[in-house]
Amino acid sequence: MSRLRVGVLISGRGSNLRALIAASTDAGYPAEVVSVVSDRVKAPGLAFAQSAGICSTVIPHPGRRSFAVRAEALLHEQRVELVCLAGFMRVLDGAFVEAWRDRMVNIHPSLLPAFPGLNAQRQALAAGVRFSGCTVHFVRPEVDAGPIIAQAVVPVLPNDDEASLAARILSVEHRLYPLALRLIAEGRVRVVAGKVEIDRWRAPRLAVLNPSEPPRNSPASGWSQTPVGV
Ligand code: GRF
Repeated sequence: MSRLRVGVLISGRGSNLRALIAASTDAGYPAEVVSVVSDRVKAPGLAFAQSAGICSTVIPHPGRRSFAVRAEALLHEQRVELVCLAGFMRVLDGAFVEAWRDRMVNIHPSLLPAFPGLNAQRQALAAGVRFSGCTVHFVRPEVDAGPIIAQAVVPVLPNDDEASLAARILSVEHRLYPLALRLIAEGRVRVVAGKVEIDRWRAPRLAVLNPSEPPRNSPASGWSQTPVGV
């Protein structure tokens, strides 16, 4: 089986990169991370990729165009077929984005189109939403925009701060990104009229309410909630 060759662009911690690498260590997984590019020398994700034996490159970012030219050459040389942005903190050059149209995806820690840009968790808390989550989408020139491939939802809890909400979202990011990449690598994802269609789609059948409904036969208010872990 030939696996989809994936390049991952990072700027920092790289926990999503780790999740993608972990998924691809399974020989039956249809994609493999063959190249990691960071715009920051000290990105912890870079050290992890090196230790995992993956070709890892620092491309400094003095400007969008010069970064794009070097990244394009490298990705071409390494025969990368799909680019995954995973905590890459730069806005990419428009021509680069167009060159990778429908072959470049991003993960963002909100239910897009709500809360694009920086500090998505802070935006969610400020808006008082009861649910947040994460989104994997194809990249377009506008920041955190583009056809949505997959989303995961988590509740926002009464005592949440940015850190606790970010951790809860991150734990589902690590499941969602490998799933989305699998669907793409299996050739099941295509963009039709600006929206994503997925072959053999299984949707969840449950609606989730927050606050929860009281269990049957209990007082209408004041019931205790099962804690949701991060
Ligand atoms: C994640 O929350 C991701 O959604 C966002 O940046 C963060 C990167 O985290 N785009 P990590 O570097 O993957 O740990």
